[in-house]
Amino acid sequence: MSRIYEALQKAEAERKPERREREPLMPVQSDGVAAVAGPSPTAAVAEYVPSPPEAVDFFSASLPLAVSEGALDLTRIVRRPWTPSLMQLPALLERGPAVEQFRSLRSRIHELRDISPLKSILVSSGLPQEGKSFISTNLAISLARHKNSKVLLIDGDMRRYTLHELLGCESQPGLADYLAGKAGLEEIMQQAEQAPEEDMPGKAFLPNLTFIAGGNGGDKAADLSGNPRFGELIKMAAPYFDWIIVDSSPVLPVSDAVNLSRSCDGVLLVARGGVTKFPVAQRAASELKSANLLGFVLNAVLDKPQVGSYYGYDATKD
Ligand SMILES: Nc1ncnc2c1ncn2[C@@H]1O[C@H](COP(=O)(O)OP(=O)(O)OP(=O)(O)O)[C@@H](O)[C@H]1O
Ligand SMILES: [Mg+2]
Repeated sequence: MSRIYEALQKAEAERKPERREREPLMPVQSDGVAAVAGPSPTAAVAEYVPSPPEAVDFFSASLPLAVSEGALDLTRIVRRPWTPSLMQLPALLERGPAVEQFRSLRSRIHELRDISPLKSILVSSGLPQEGKSFISTNLAISLARHKNSKVLLIDGDMRRYTLHELLGCESQPGLADYLAGKAGLEEIMQQAEQAPEEDMPGKAFLPNLTFIAGGNGGDKAADLSGNPRFGELIKMAAPYFDWIIVDSSPVLPVSDAVNLSRSCDGVLLVARGGVTKFPVAQRAASELKSANLLGFVLNAVLDKPQVGSYYGYDATKD
């Protein structure tokens, strides 16, 4: 945990409560482990810090679950008009520090998959507003832009579902409807209808991204998140996708994310630079001790990246 500790200590030292989201943030990269994440021009930084090997417990996180429905027919997935928010989805850009840092995070995740099986990843954090939805959506886009990878992005926060706002699409029917038995899996999946104007790079068509919105879980969200249908969903969808990214609620106030994590191969925790205190991150990790904790993404730290600019690296190809 020492690197996580150092990263969080550094972030806490930079803590300035008056600086919150949407302020211009200086990106940073340190020791080759950083991944930047931030909407341009308000670039910010996410630092990926692998957790120690003893935190990895892959097999306890992937419980065998019975599949109660037949095979998926992806040709039946509805295509809807999407208008993604470029401000909140810097991974859609062709270049820039945020794009590079999400590529870096993506590379780390590929490396982890080389060590043990990894397809479904839950993204969570200790408290609200630390950047879970921002990281999960941009990570899903970054993965979907790489080598034709098929990605399923699930809004698993059935209380404060926001991913449909980032993607600019409908929020229902969604996960809550499926878990409540009110909709089938193909009914809750959606893809972008067509590429919007070519001169709007932030609205690029994402043919490899399939999305499941939150639906409205309301006060039933906790019960729904514990429903075995979520495990069935993951198991049924897994053969059709290279990656499944699940956004979730914060783990300290509510139990939903812990419930969902039981069906996922791994968990990424988000800590927000200058905001998340070390004990909060520690408690979040401890809530997820039975999951396969992959590591922390330190989001929105203030320093500027050094490595990329030093080498003049600005790749434009995924
Ligand atoms: N790296 C960043 N740079 C700039 N703004 C950011 C960054 N990360 C997140 N934000 C902004 O901070 C706000 C909170 O982020 P987000 O919704 O991703 O947090 P969350 O952890 O999902 O919150 P909640 O727990 O309420 O679901 C959003 O307005 C988002 O655009
Ligand atoms: Mg969120």
